[in-house]
Amino acid sequence: MVRARQARRGTSYGEAMGGLNPYLGQQAIAVAKQAFTLRIANSGQSIAVDPAQLPHGRDGRPGSLLDILLHHGVRVDHACGGVCSCSTCHVVVKKGLKSCNPADEGEEDMLDTAPGLTGQSRLACQCVPNGSEDVEVLIPAWNRNAIAEGE
Ligand code: FES
Repeated sequence: MVRARQARRGTSYGEAMGGLNPYLGQQAIAVAKQAFTLRIANSGQSIAVDPAQLPHGRDGRPGSLLDILLHHGVRVDHACGGVCSCSTCHVVVKKGLKSCNPADEGEEDMLDTAPGLTGQSRLACQCVPNGSEDVEVLIPAWNRNAIAEGE
């Protein structure tokens, strides 16, 4: 749970330790109420997100990046089915991170197991944009083979 926080703060691994409770409950997150665009930096694909259509499915938090990406044919690994129990849905939110819910303890813990962690890393299944600004995500290189558009 330390590495993800340090990446966000710009500190290095090992500088901070803490007695954080890994068993905190998940917060309720509101689905976006306004339209926004979700852009995939890898492909340049832009998805017009209609809040009236959210949530799309059952993978990840309702209205999460994973929910939106899967619905629009962008395959993102999600080994645990979007319940914050792996880190295979790791994405980098290059733009619009402030419009997303903050990562909770459980997400931070899982992010610590993700390779290539950055200060803008999120689990796609846990990251829910509120629609106040457009969002751009980068799907890390090790996950790019899973990208399939227009299915
Ligand atoms: S799919 Fe497993 S943590 Fe997101």
